[in-house]
Amino acid sequence: MKKIILFFLVCSISFSQKKTIEQRVDSVLALMNLEEKVGQLVQYSGGWDTGTQTVKPSEAHEKLISKGKVGSFLNVFGAESTKRLQKIAVEESRLKIPLIFGLDVIHGFRAIFPVPLAEACTWEPELIQLSARWQATEAASTGLHWTFNPMVDIARDPRWGRIVEGSGEDPYLGSLMAAARVKGYQGKNLSANNTIAACAKHFAGYGGAEGGRDYNTVDMSERTFRDVYLKPFHAAVKAGVGTLMSSFNEIGGVPQSGSHFLLTDILRKEWGFDGFVVSDWNSVGELIPHGIAKDLKHAAQIGINAGVDMDMEASAYFNYLADLVKEGKVSNKIFDESVKRVLRIKFRLGLFDDPYKYCNSEYEKKTILNNEIVKATREVAKRSIVLLKNKNNLLPLKKNLSRIAVLGPLANSKDDPLGPWSAQGKPGDVVTVVEGLKNKLGNKVEILFEEGCKVDGSSQDGFGKAIEAAQKSEVVILCIGESRSMSAEARSRAYLDLPGVQETFVKEIYKTGKPIVVVLMNGRPLTINWISENIPSILETWYLGIQAGNAIADVLFGDYNPSGKLPVTFPRYVGQIPIYYNHKNTGRPYDPQNHYTSYYLDLESTPLYPFGFGLSFTTFDYSNLSLNKNKIKKNESLKVSVDVKNSGSMDGEEVVQLYIRDLVGSVTRPVKELKDFTKIFLKAGESKRVEFTITPEKLKFYDINMNFVVEPGDFKIFVGTNSEDVKEASFSIVD
Ligand code: NOJ
Repeated sequence: MKKIILFFLVCSISFSQKKTIEQRVDSVLALMNLEEKVGQLVQYSGGWDTGTQTVKPSEAHEKLISKGKVGSFLNVFGAESTKRLQKIAVEESRLKIPLIFGLDVIHGFRAIFPVPLAEACTWEPELIQLSARWQATEAASTGLHWTFNPMVDIARDPRWGRIVEGSGEDPYLGSLMAAARVKGYQGKNLSANNTIAACAKHFAGYGGAEGGRDYNTVDMSERTFRDVYLKPFHAAVKAGVGTLMSSFNEIGGVPQSGSHFLLTDILRKEWGFDGFVVSDWNSVGELIPHGIAKDLKHAAQIGINAGVDMDMEASAYFNYLADLVKEGKVSNKIFDESVKRVLRIKFRLGLFDDPYKYCNSEYEKKTILNNEIVKATREVAKRSIVLLKNKNNLLPLKKNLSRIAVLGPLANSKDDPLGPWSAQGKPGDVVTVVEGLKNKLGNKVEILFEEGCKVDGSSQDGFGKAIEAAQKSEVVILCIGESRSMSAEARSRAYLDLPGVQETFVKEIYKTGKPIVVVLMNGRPLTINWISENIPSILETWYLGIQAGNAIADVLFGDYNPSGKLPVTFPRYVGQIPIYYNHKNTGRPYDPQNHYTSYYLDLESTPLYPFGFGLSFTTFDYSNLSLNKNKIKKNESLKVSVDVKNSGSMDGEEVVQLYIRDLVGSVTRPVKELKDFTKIFLKAGESKRVEFTITPEKLKFYDINMNFVVEPGDFKIFVGTNSEDVKEASFSIVD
């Protein structure tokens, strides 16, 4: 009898449209016992069976679901697999609370888009929103409700392998990309059947790992933390992100998965976030090796009290949370609040109304890798490419060449263009550079492919054949870089040169005297000084996803004029790291006339390629930079205009960038800060007047008292094609 009443109660909660989500959350909470509440805060990973290539949650997991002891799974996907588990949750468990399934859909589920760092090169938030929309559509069709993305960590150190997962070094660009991805994944309505909850990660400061070594200690001032590292997270929260992931690292002695200051004071109290926080994989358990928890029970106590709502894989909440609540070490208020946050997102996703809404095998088949999605991956891919050098306009190549040598370990790789974190991306879906060129040129141009060498290792056995191919050809396209397994989690590098014998290989090919285009595939800025000096044309393509080869061929042959700009600084040597454009001036900025200034004895201070850099097949001239006022009040906006002319002979797009410098503040300010940009299309010979509005919000920073304010004083404005090549103007803010 009791069971029947409960069933009707839960059904009425599920199907009642009139109640608000908050009322429905409260009514479910009121029915839950202690164990069921803990269950909602537990997440386990389903195992991937490499033999059968299917996701296999264990029988033990299924038992837990039927008892309401687990609220979420990661790494379980596919309409059938999710349906089977969901059925257990909503038919066998006492309260029938649906599970939420999450996966790392970082740049696509099966249709793999460019890696996030590459996408950031587009400087096109609307396009990136569309990319995330497509990714969500595909992911949702496989029974997923949630992606652990966007990764919005600011990264100033290319040794850190995870730089590839984010949008680079700048808080303004990073914030726009963060918001775009959240909006793309979540759409307008989280309960639609093609939207998924986003997860801004890794909260926070993870990208500041000392020495660029993954998981390493982070230490920084609260000002830098807030002004730089927290900005994209705040943008994600403002865009309505459903969840955040607490990070592995500590800052100033406080592991972030145990930081009340971060997870409660800043996130909930200051920012008003009402979704839930999931830990990173075992990051609650890692409070023990960090040295702030004596055992797993203690770790659970710290984690939940700090504000980690869901425990990914540590089993800390599973084993100890109920006791901690019974013992009063975790208050009912804190505990219930966490449960409510998880239920709230499940309600917003519409899971209580239709727990199976994402589990439809036919829809899944129709959606995965459909033509529209594949087209979108090519569009985003070609727009992500950055032209780093193009001496004497070697590019675009003419289509009437008779023979091209396409060389290098990445020229015909089916695997590497997928990049890291490629979910269900399959090498068989990838168009390689060799294939892309054949698609473009048909049989009219002969393509000689030779690998020459591997990405890594010391063998030069393949050099001979590659040199021969180069000698027989009119042009050489050299595809070199890193293999995809060299980037992402736990993939830090101490050297940023090309691995293996690749540079020697390039030098050997160079000796043939043939014109060479280097196509780079890599997950981080590399130190490519010799190449940059000697090779006439260089394309940075990162990992472009399944349509990499077609997109690269589009650019090589001028069917698309490249428009990407770097979201991160390229160092000349590792010794310069960290190197980023928005650094402070110091008391002794570099002065070549003065020995006692800030520089290296044995190295230039400048980067190899600055932030915001990227060429086009055409050229753009900037003139007539003007401001509508020279003095504004603290609460006023300023209009900045500039003429941009396409002075070359090809139509093209330009990212017009605006930076400011606050000359005197109550605290020191960066030498430049990106505050606005716009991407414009100009026909050859065409001019446009571009206008920006600098609002008071854009001028705020944390002052000496940690208040977020506009300070009166003198400012410089810089507008240009990258962070170094700019025109200048000045204005003042008066009280
Ligand atoms: C650990 C990674 O740090 C995080 O980014 C990822 O989302 C989780 N594992 C789940 O796979």
